[in-house]
Parts: sequence; C-alpha cells; structure tokens
Amino acid sequence: MKFMLHILGIFCCLCSCALGQNISVRPNVVNIGALFALNSTIGRAAKVAIAAAVNDINNDSSILAGTKLVVQMQDTNCSGFLGIVQVADLVEYYGWKLVTAVFIDDDYGRNGIAALGDELAKRKLKILYKAAIKPGAKKSEMAAVLVKATMMESRVFVLHANVDSGIAVFSLAYNLSMTSGGYVWIATDWLSSYLDSSPRLDMGLMSIMQGVLTLRLSIVAPEALNRKPSSPSNANKKLYTAIWPGETTTRPRGWVFPNNGNDLRIGIPNRVSYRQFVSVDPQTGVVTGFCIDVFVAAMNLLQYPVPYTFVPFGTGRENPSYTELIDKILTNEFDAVVGDIAIVTNRTKVVDFTQPYIGSGLVILTSVKKQSSIGWAFLQPFTIKMWCVTGMFFLIIGTVVWMLEHRVNDDFRGPPVKQAITVFWFSFSTLFFAHREDTRSTLGRFVIIIWLFVVLIIQSSYTASLTSILTVQHLSSPIKGIDSLIASDEPIGFQVGSFAESYLVNELGVSPSRLKSLGTPDQYKEALDLGPKQGGVAAIVDERPYIELFLSEHDKFAIVGSEFTKSGWGFAFPRDSPLAVDLSTAILTLSENGDLQRITDKWLTSGSSASPSDDLDADRLHVHNFAALFIICGLACIVALAIHAGILYRQYTLHVAAASGPLSAAGSSRSHRSSLRSFLSFADHREVEFHKSANKDHAAIAAGGSSSGVSFTSSNSTNTSMSR
Ligand code: GLY
Repeated sequence: MKFMLHILGIFCCLCSCALGQNISVRPNVVNIGALFALNSTIGRAAKVAIAAAVNDINNDSSILAGTKLVVQMQDTNCSGFLGIVQVADLVEYYGWKLVTAVFIDDDYGRNGIAALGDELAKRKLKILYKAAIKPGAKKSEMAAVLVKATMMESRVFVLHANVDSGIAVFSLAYNLSMTSGGYVWIATDWLSSYLDSSPRLDMGLMSIMQGVLTLRLSIVAPEALNRKPSSPSNANKKLYTAIWPGETTTRPRGWVFPNNGNDLRIGIPNRVSYRQFVSVDPQTGVVTGFCIDVFVAAMNLLQYPVPYTFVPFGTGRENPSYTELIDKILTNEFDAVVGDIAIVTNRTKVVDFTQPYIGSGLVILTSVKKQSSIGWAFLQPFTIKMWCVTGMFFLIIGTVVWMLEHRVNDDFRGPPVKQAITVFWFSFSTLFFAHREDTRSTLGRFVIIIWLFVVLIIQSSYTASLTSILTVQHLSSPIKGIDSLIASDEPIGFQVGSFAESYLVNELGVSPSRLKSLGTPDQYKEALDLGPKQGGVAAIVDERPYIELFLSEHDKFAIVGSEFTKSGWGFAFPRDSPLAVDLSTAILTLSENGDLQRITDKWLTSGSSASPSDDLDADRLHVHNFAALFIICGLACIVALAIHAGILYRQYTLHVAAASGPLSAAGSSRSHRSSLRSFLSFADHREVEFHKSANKDHAAIAAGGSSSGVSFTSSNSTNTSMSR
C-alpha cells in the first residue's frame, strides 16, 4: 500500500510538471514511458503498483481534470540485479548453504537483499541472517552490527551497499578480523567490480571476483550473457581456481557453530529397554550406549570443535515417542537428535539425517520351534560325554562279567580272540536284553542284574528324549512373513514409542485394534509365550537391531520372513544443517576404518548370548542325570571283583599248600614272578579242576602218599580243548 501511495505521488508530480507548462491547453492524453526489468522482484511489484496508480488517477477527474494518463511500460529485459543472480550462482557453485547479508537499510539495500533471498531460495539456499546497517550509521554502530553477524553460523557474507558505504563496511570488517581465513565476502554487482579494480583496497579481497564476476562483467559483454538462458548447471561457468582469504585454495566451509557460548543441545531418547543403544544413568546423568559411541567417534573426526550437551528426552518410565523427539528439532528445543532414530520418510521431510550407521529394517519376531537335522537326531538325546561314559560302562561290565564268569562258565572261555569278541558281544547285547550267554556265578549275576537295571533306565530315558526332540521340533508358527501376518486377524506387538506402530497402521493398513504396545524384552517374551489365544500376540514387528539383541538372550523365538523395510538409524539435524553433511562423511570414515564394527562388537555381540543349540541342549541327557546309577553299578562291580579276588586267592593258597605238602619249605625258593604266573595260571583254570585236584589231594594224604602235584599249566591244553 505504501508503495502504491508512493507511486501515486510520483505520478501526480510528473503530471503536474507535464501539465504545468501550459495549463490552458490541456491535452486529452499524457503519455509517460517507464522502463523496468519486469522479471525482477521490484519490476514485478512496480508493474502492479503503477497500473493501480494510473487507474486511480484516471478515475478521479479532480486530479488531472479530464486528461487521461497513459503509462507505457517497457521491459528492459535486463535484470537490475544481475549481480545478485551471480552471487546466488556463486554461493550455489561453492556449496555454501547459508549466507549473511550485510546491507544498508534503505530501499536499495532492502530490495537488493530481498532479490538475493529470492534467488537463493530458487537454489534451495537461504539468507541466515540480515545484518542491516542504518543509513549514515557511525563506525561503532556498524561494528556492533558486524560483531552480531559473526555470532551467527554463516561465514559467507554478501555485501550489498553503495561504493562509499561498502568500502566503509569492508574496511571495518578487515579491522575486526572478519576478512581472514574462513571468511568469504562477496560484494554485489558494481560494488564488486569497483572493489576488484580499486587500488585503495589491499585486504586480501576474495579472489572470487577475479573468477566469475570479473569474467562476466569485464570480458563478456552483458548483452551476450543475457541472451544466454541462465543454466542451473555450473559446468559452463568456467570458474578459475580461487585463492581464498588466508592464501589457501581450499574452499572455506562457509559456516561455523555460533560461538555465543552455548553448546549444541543434543536430544537423546531416555530409554528404559534395550539400553545397550542409549542409556542415561539416572544417578549421574552419564549417557552411554552404542549410538552414543558412534556419535562421539564421528564428532571426534570433525576438523573443528563442536561443543555439545546431551539432553535426555522422556519420562524414564517408558521409551519416549521418537516422533515427538524429532519434533523438538522443529520447535528449536534441540539442535540435533542422536540415538536409535530410524530414517523414515515422514521424518526426512522435516529434518536432515546423517548417513545411516546401522541397518534397521522392520522384521517379524514370533515363537517357533527349531527344525534340526532329522538324519542325526538319534544322536541328540545324549551329550557326547554321555555317549562316551555309557559306551565305556558297557565295556567295563563286559570285562567284569568275563572275569567273574571265566572260571565257571564255558561261554566265557576259549581262545583269546573269541573271548574278546564274547566280552564285546555280551556287553552290547545287554542294551537290548538280548545276551545269549548265561551268567553262572552269583557275583556275575549280581553285577548283571544291576547293570540291566541301569540299561533299562538309560534306554527308556533315551526313548523319551528322542521322542521329545523329534515331535517338538516339527511344530512351527503359522506366521511365515508379513503377508501372512497382515492376512491373519491376530494381535501384533510393537515397541512403545517406535515408528513401527504408525507404519503398520498407515502403510500396511493393519487395524489399530490389533496392535499391542510392548515396552521391554520381558514383555515381548511374555506376549509371545501366551500367544494370541491367551491375550498375547502372534508376532512382534520391530527393527532388526532390537530383535537381534532380544534373540541373543531368548530362545524359542525367531525372525520369520525377510526384512520388509530397508531403513537405517541416523542422527537428525535441522534442515540444511552443514553438520549433518560433515557427520555423514565421518560415519563413512568410521565404517571404512573398522571403528564402526568395533563399536558394534563392543555393544551388540557380547553378553550372555545363548546359541541356537542351547535350546536342544536343554532336552539332552547328560552324564550327571545318571550319575547315581553309574556309581551304583561301578560299586557293584568293585564289590563283586573284590569278593571274587578274595575267593580266588583263598583257593589258590589252599591249592599251593596242598601241592607243596607239609614237608616242603613252600615258597621259600620261589620268586615273586613265578608266584604271579602260577596265580594267573590258577585263575585261568576252571574252578571245577581245582575242586577235582583238591579232592584227589585229600585222598592221597589220607592214603599216606604225597600229592599228585597236578600242574594247571601243563593241563591248560586239556582245558582249552574242553571249552566250547
Ligand atoms: N527406533 C525407533 C524409532 O526410530 O522410531
């Protein structure tokens, strides 16, 4: 409105001048020519305002007394802000996102900066801060404006002022060390060409001007440039390599963190479950976790210091809403959000994310019984140790029974090879109670009866365990993947605060009434164990990192189907934040140098993870399950052998006494070695022969003669031929 009144005033003046020369001869029409760049901000506004003003004048006959005002507007086809366009091109070319505009706060300055804002917006860039200097401001006032501008993030300053003010501002900036390394100053159109050629300025003025600006203004005729359509591509701009302030060819970053003493406020979720990812110590407030370690490692890779403070978000009683956490960036409560934040479409519309540092697609967790290899299932009821101990006991029992039966039972006699086979055959056939050999000795029967009891227990336990393993392993969940989950009508669990809830409802069309929020891994387990029929859930939909952590601590659950979203976790920053870009680079570096893997190993793969075979292990039979039986059996063997040895020794001493007669000095001349051989020979012979020879000796003694002195060794061949 002000602008229109202004235009109206101008026309009134113009018309008064035009008509004032000869008031008596009023022309019917007064023609006024106007030249505007109609393609510019001012041109567009002026066109509308002039048309409205002309209309008002012509409708009010008291102003021009019947004379018609005609304004012929001509488009200059030449932007009055050609320099502004170039500045915007430059900012875009060098990848700066934010600029600070320094200008004299008059119409020229404001219009120029408005035009700059428009041009930058076309390139998705923006003026972060407008440093307006009052016309005629004192040096101290100018300095105050500049110092305030340095508090802001941007280090790209666009100076839009007339020559005198421009030089004053730039000189002051020089004195305030604002033209040194890290700073970029761009002066608009004619000021830049003036500064570029002015011998008065020796302040390391940015070399950009020797690049694009000079090229366009000095070498190529403006008309030639204007004929060319403006191209968003920078390929045809033929920029020279710039020497930047600080005598460096490295492009200034163009921004810093506002050094007004405030740390970055980094929001973090105050988690109550899966605290390996992010956790806040309620006592000390110390923040730890996988996501925190990744963030800190990435920040340490930045070339510049960024002070920050973690600010927990959430009640600490349940996991916070991650959507609300992200919204805190929009309301400026947080400068960034760090944690297990999924990069999902809705969020990328409002904030910028870094590169993902871990994959976090949604998966389905459900209760399933593991299928194992049926071919070798028969081995699974016993542990390896149990198999070994059982096998060993079979051999021990075979040997003990052989020792006990050898002297009295022809089944356990014969050539050594045959006897060895008998031991094996006898012992292992007891497994099926199918041994053919009789046990004749009392001790042998005692051992065998205990052993057969042990075998009975082992056998029935084996059968029960194998039955359990084979039947239970065949059961599995009816949920096979996301399609069968959606198609079913059963309740689905999701993690409190996670985007999974809205994803299931909005993207997959799952009825909210089917969803059940679960806060902790214990609640996951309980809901799955109960199952849909008893108030639990059929499956849980959650991000893979949580589920993997859950599975590392819980058996009898598994991921079914494939990951059905392909998201990851990243750190969230406000739109266009340069820190998001630099941290993305840092995350890639962490990934390439292996640090990311090391942090992952530290937080996510240690702990009491149960291997899949542990579930099966619980059903297996161990040696300790049968320890009592083995001990009883072992003791029975020892007792039987001891008694057998006692009897044998007694028989042997009787036999030796009878053989040597009362007059001989028995044993005095015998060596221990031959005694042992004689004992073994005695033990090898059938007991019946001992009784026969004993009877004979008694008869001979009764008849007054000497003993027969039967040698068991010499009669061994007879025994052998007698045995079966
Ligand atoms: N990780 C939970 C979420 O981003 O919603």
